[in-house]
Amino acid sequence: MDAFGGSIPFSQFMNLALYAPGLGYYSAGAAKLGESGDFVTAPEISSLFSRCLAGQVAQVLEEMGGGDVLELGAGSGVMAADILDELERQGRLPHRYLILEVSADLRQRQQALLATRVPGLLDRVEWLDKLPVGLEGVILANEVMDALPVERFRIKPEGLVAQAVSWSVDGFAWQDVAASDVLQQEWLRLSAGLPARPDAGFTSEICLQLGPWLQALNQSMSRGLMLLIDYGLPRSQYYHPQRNDGTLICHYRHRAHTDPLRYVGIQDITAWVDFTRVAETAVDLGLEIMGFATQAHFLAGAGIDRLLQLAPADTARQRLDLASQMRKLILPGEMGERFKVIGLSRGLDDCVSGFGMHDLTHTL
Ligand SMILES: C[S@@+](CC[C@H](N)C(=O)[O-])C[C@H]1O[C@@H](n2cnc3c(N)ncnc32)[C@H](O)[C@@H]1O
Repeated sequence: MDAFGGSIPFSQFMNLALYAPGLGYYSAGAAKLGESGDFVTAPEISSLFSRCLAGQVAQVLEEMGGGDVLELGAGSGVMAADILDELERQGRLPHRYLILEVSADLRQRQQALLATRVPGLLDRVEWLDKLPVGLEGVILANEVMDALPVERFRIKPEGLVAQAVSWSVDGFAWQDVAASDVLQQEWLRLSAGLPARPDAGFTSEICLQLGPWLQALNQSMSRGLMLLIDYGLPRSQYYHPQRNDGTLICHYRHRAHTDPLRYVGIQDITAWVDFTRVAETAVDLGLEIMGFATQAHFLAGAGIDRLLQLAPADTARQRLDLASQMRKLILPGEMGERFKVIGLSRGLDDCVSGFGMHDLTHTL
């Protein structure tokens, strides 16, 4: 940190805390996902989630006359296993199921889980070290954008400052530093379009890495659909003056809190997604926005009710469990409204039923 004048930008701190080789949260061997880890994601809660996505993948592949699936950040691998299982059941398997995972530790767990769950389909699964060229098919990313490092800033009476991170014998601490030109300009641009301008004291985040990340996906996909799912908001709500302490959420042993400077390397650090930024970038890249929906509406449009009825359940207890899982996925107070789904397409008609229920693209 001395080389940077005593502090580093928050984005660099977040990048190191999550991904530093051998030490970062996603690089080291902690359990991370599931009951024994720090947090639970939708595919970990219920296979109903992944089976809904499988139906949407099948609709796209049918419209395209076949293609591949690329999953980014596949976590424990359970979503890949459930999607492959469901697509096989429907007789609509993709040519290949590709996985790009930055964590070597999670990649090993995915390989072990898929070898157990879908051994007969392993020849279709391929782990990649970089994005493929000329992909035709569907790109899936559940809770990956929230892990992209963000810049943190605060508005002071004298103007915008960046919140950097310093270190001393007392530990890590926030330090206000001059905001870079890029950060200044970006805040000027996006705040100009806000219905209510935040005042001094307002603190929030900007994900400058989202643009390059989407650009790389766009270059990789020659035709098809990206389905990106995460917790987030349209910009007018993301930077609403009342949301004045930012959107950082950290997960440590199933406790969510807002202090990324604690438990460094052993907790997950995330930021909510500004979905207007996703949409703007996509449009600039020449992608179409196929739809933007809450997770609840998307899953309803994808037929989660029907899947619940069809799901194998030997006992009344199992059926009750499935119904309870579905409630976690769709109720507004659980994941139903916080989580959103955006579909970005190239060369496709509107072919995904998940966006047919209640499309919120006009709010972006
Ligand atoms: C919160 S976990 C979500 C895992 C899984 N998608 C799920 O829903 O259970 C974030 C995942 O994204 C991976 N990841 C983070 N940044 C990534 C990136 N830039 N490219 C690909 N994977 C990434 C992590 O290693 C991890 O597997």
